[in-house]
Amino acid sequence: MMKRTHYCERPRESDIGNTVTVSGWVANWRDHGGLVFIDLRDRTGIVQVVFNPEDSAELHERAGRLRSESCITVSGVVSKRPDGMQNPAIPTGMVEIKAGELLVHNESAPPPFDVDNPGEVSLETRLSYRFIDLRRPEIFRIFHMRHRILQTFRRFFDEKGFIEVETPFLTKSTPEGARDFLVPGRLTPGSFYALPQSPQLFKQILMVGGLDKYFQIVKCFRDEDVRASRQPEFTQLDIEMSFVDENDIMDIMEKAMSLVFELAPEKKLSLPLPRLTYGDAMERYGTDAPDLRFSMEIGDISDIAAGCGFRVFKNAVEGGGCVRGICVPGGAAMSRGEIDGFIEWVKQFDLPGLAWFKVEDDGPAGGVAKFFSEGEFNSIAERFNAKPGSLLLFAADMRHKTDRALAPLRLHVAEKMDMIPSDKFELCWVVDAPAFERAEDGRLTFPHHPFTAPYEEDIGLLEERPTEARTKSYDLVLNGVELGGGSVRISDPEVQMQVFRILGYTQDEIEDRFGFLMRALNHGAPPHAGIALGLDRVVSKLLGIDDIRETIAFPKTQRGICMLTGAPTRVEEKQLKELGIATSGQ
Ligand code: AMO
Ligand code: AMP
Repeated sequence: MMKRTHYCERPRESDIGNTVTVSGWVANWRDHGGLVFIDLRDRTGIVQVVFNPEDSAELHERAGRLRSESCITVSGVVSKRPDGMQNPAIPTGMVEIKAGELLVHNESAPPPFDVDNPGEVSLETRLSYRFIDLRRPEIFRIFHMRHRILQTFRRFFDEKGFIEVETPFLTKSTPEGARDFLVPGRLTPGSFYALPQSPQLFKQILMVGGLDKYFQIVKCFRDEDVRASRQPEFTQLDIEMSFVDENDIMDIMEKAMSLVFELAPEKKLSLPLPRLTYGDAMERYGTDAPDLRFSMEIGDISDIAAGCGFRVFKNAVEGGGCVRGICVPGGAAMSRGEIDGFIEWVKQFDLPGLAWFKVEDDGPAGGVAKFFSEGEFNSIAERFNAKPGSLLLFAADMRHKTDRALAPLRLHVAEKMDMIPSDKFELCWVVDAPAFERAEDGRLTFPHHPFTAPYEEDIGLLEERPTEARTKSYDLVLNGVELGGGSVRISDPEVQMQVFRILGYTQDEIEDRFGFLMRALNHGAPPHAGIALGLDRVVSKLLGIDDIRETIAFPKTQRGICMLTGAPTRVEEKQLKELGIATSGQ
């Protein structure tokens, strides 16, 4: 067998005269004046191979029958390309290989898209033929970067004394706020394993077991709606440490992140990263994952609006709501149609509309300007530091509803106004999330997970004012995307029981779901803390890719389908019977 001596992108002028053997796929085939040229592609790039009938009529004839994407190995002498045929745009552009031997490993059926110019081909088609899509050096670069990021983290945590431990996939539900994927237990009919939403409880158990420093690069499974930044199975860099506090975890993660950022030299981090409290982030940006690349913070004018003449504002405040808004610098130049566009746009967030006015040299103008006295207007302008030429946009409603619309509106307007510097990387910590929050139906839930430790001084608030108790939690946020999150854990069994009870779990439910954790916490649990990073998100952010699917070798579509294999698929009746599962037979 002919063995490869060089990757395609390697042969250079210094190799002229040497015989090389390259292997790869036929990227391009041309017949020029009796000579057959092919571009041969592998994961590194392409090299030109020329078949001359004067050197070998038989080889030339075989080369003439080669088709796109066939897999071949060629040997030949590296030669200088004739003048006028050189291509300085590619690294091998000064040379070509004069073919002396050709081995065809496998011919290719016509590919469904042009690998080197995929044009408008849909992601679905690319994923169905991922084996072809992956042949693009551009795609290889994504996976090479992903590999380097993973290796950088691995090396870093290994050097710091962390132990990589694998935790089970066939396990019990871990509450991270999503739906579980279930796997039926054949030997225990009627019972199910849950695929882990994260290794959260196992890593805590490892700490109780004295492992001290744990990490794992691990798949997590969450049955939730697929979005650009969400997949049903995704990868976490998962960390847990004993005898540490929140600052130790933030400190070590900052060091790890700065190493990883060195892989993209144009993206510098300056440490330590800024920290915002959750309360501050919600107040100023309406979200716990703020985009700090631009300002345009949300302001609150409830106190001024309470006494104003605009009924919508007055009613909102009287009804226990608020009036909050943003000031768009230069926004006064917008047309009525553009402003109406924003009013329509926020309706998708269940807000009835937006109120607005423009700030002009001689005061407010347009929209709801007429409802404000000069004094009220001056107070509003001062609050937003609004200069003439600005546009003020307001939402009046219950606080969670104003923020649910204003946070995305802030981004939407900034994009329209070209206010977001795309090359900027604003990484920050959002700390001190509340232990509990109220769901729409009024029930208490948890923003992180129910193992998050409250500040000692806030434990007294847990029963009476649960949504005001702050936790020792920290989320890592980059340009408005949550990259990771973690916390100090509850290691006191009394506090853990209290949290479960506040969430409404009965004694039996606690025993059934978390009995093993409670036993561990009663057997010498050390103080411990940790974090998990969404690796797919880290990779895509570092590469400047919006859709995390581009960074996953075999991702799922919006409907949770693997385009390559067609999973999920129906199974045989016999298999279902063995599992004791009856279906409706559709
Ligand atoms: P959390 O649920 O915040 O924390 O998850 C950590 C990080 O994982 C990423 N992530 C996802 N990435 C892609 N697709 C998804 N569906 C998806 N869901 C989450 C995010 C997120 O920040 N056990 C805790 C961590 C801890 O407390 O140590 C946990 O899983 O980037
Ligand atoms: P209406 O009284 O419904 O005609 O609304 C008058 C103006 O107030 C319109 O510009 C609406 O977009 C705006 N508006 C209506 N409801 C709200 C709200 N909850 N918050 C802010 N503006 C609103």
